[in-house]
Amino acid sequence: MEVLRLSIQNSELKSKKGEGLVKEKALLKIDGKNLELPVIVGTEGEKAFDIGDLRSQTSFITYDYGYANTGSCLSAITFIDGEKGILRYRGIPVEQLAEQSTFVETAYLLISGKLPNKKEADQFSKELTEHASLHQDFKHIFDGIPSATHPMAVLSAMVTILSGFHVPSGDPNKQNESEVRKFSALLLSKVRTIAAYSYKKSIGQPFIYPHRALNYCANFLHMMFSLPGEEYPVDDEAVRILNLLLILHADHEQNCSTSTVRLVGSAQTNLFACIAAGICALWGPWHGGANQEVMEMLEEIHGGGGDVKQYVAKVKDSNSKVRLAGFGHRVYKTFDPRAKVIKAACDRYFSKRGVEDPLLEIAFRLEEVALRDDFFISRKLYPNVDFYSGILYKSLGIPTNMFPVMFAIGRLPGWIAHWKEMRETKPPRLGRPRQIYTGPLKTDYIPVVKRS
Ligand SMILES: CC(C)(COP(=O)(O)OP(=O)(O)OC[C@H]1O[C@@H](n2cnc3c(N)ncnc32)[C@H](O)[C@@H]1OP(=O)(O)O)[C@@H](O)C(=O)NCCC(=O)NCCS
Repeated sequence: MEVLRLSIQNSELKSKKGEGLVKEKALLKIDGKNLELPVIVGTEGEKAFDIGDLRSQTSFITYDYGYANTGSCLSAITFIDGEKGILRYRGIPVEQLAEQSTFVETAYLLISGKLPNKKEADQFSKELTEHASLHQDFKHIFDGIPSATHPMAVLSAMVTILSGFHVPSGDPNKQNESEVRKFSALLLSKVRTIAAYSYKKSIGQPFIYPHRALNYCANFLHMMFSLPGEEYPVDDEAVRILNLLLILHADHEQNCSTSTVRLVGSAQTNLFACIAAGICALWGPWHGGANQEVMEMLEEIHGGGGDVKQYVAKVKDSNSKVRLAGFGHRVYKTFDPRAKVIKAACDRYFSKRGVEDPLLEIAFRLEEVALRDDFFISRKLYPNVDFYSGILYKSLGIPTNMFPVMFAIGRLPGWIAHWKEMRETKPPRLGRPRQIYTGPLKTDYIPVVKRS
């Protein structure tokens, strides 16, 4: 087998949905056949072979366990350079958004493709306010859920059920453009209410209705922490921190949950069900559940006397199967830019308040020890977004089992943007990977009486 790269004139070769991005072709020689593979080049210079005709022309498929080398789509939403530690939403560096934007504005940017002007921003805020409440029947559904249910289970179930309230007639999978627009705002707003209600349910407190005068993040804190008859004093610093955390979570291109949303959506499944699937994928400890794992790890180290070196030794012991939570990333082979922003925010927040959190101090020491250790250096393992985010969530009063839910609220605009982009791609195509079968060859059925 041989691969040659050849230059071509203009976009002489076309690629499936990569028209205009094809600048050269590669020639694959395989079993005496020549196959021309268009080379797609993205706006930031990323290159891919379009292997769309590979199987039909050669009977070969590619094998890429964990999809580390596979591009499943063309996307104009988010750019990551994992080697340089760059993350941009619609071209804008995430550091600038974290510093200057709000979560709602960033959500608009991701979903609509551009920052809103004043009129568009006001209209979007109005829609979020209008959709904040849940139908009264939700109360009965919440009543039937055991208090010990993890809030991610509650969130995913409730999001699926939303389709029944908002697409009461007809086929929920057939959503037109205006419904998609409406459901995007509705989901952003209601997910926040569901999240706060799931917390209230778990601690046996009454639900607190959303307040029309409060902005997105302030309203969430109000629904989480107000009590009937008591006004919740909105803390501007807490609102700022929450905006920052949600912005940093808002999108991360084709990660596990976003790919899940796209894959489920590729079957023309409705937005609610796709988001619910994304929430389930995010729940895992190697993905959005990592922030909960980090907090539990820091508490374990703290409870055991604070010996970070001992914990690092356990991680390095190949028999222990313990990973350093909040470290490592499939894409980043340097510092995750989000971790840098959150670490700086932690520093600022705690020094401004004059408080000390022993878990933050353990996290600092753990990072320091790991970054000097060859085990982590050689594997390019650096702190990721989840390493410090839990410490900030904790400082806002958010309980540990709600951390993945916070991640889900933050990631929602990204999921919606990707679902929308995928559904707008023409022609639509069902996502369906192949496999290399390694099971038994044809075997005859043996009736149970003859089985040994
Ligand atoms: C995120 C993660 C799943 C990415 O994994 P990946 O890109 O598939 O990397 P691999 O699983 O192939 O790991 C490569 C090597 O690094 C090791 N490694 C990866 N993350 C590690 C961690 N957090 N602690 C210790 N070792 C780790 C693996 O054991 C493997 O070692 P080996 O080569 O000796 O077998 C992984 O880094 C991880 O589990 N991190 C902790 C969970 C986490 O923080 N997730 C949130 C991500 S935002």
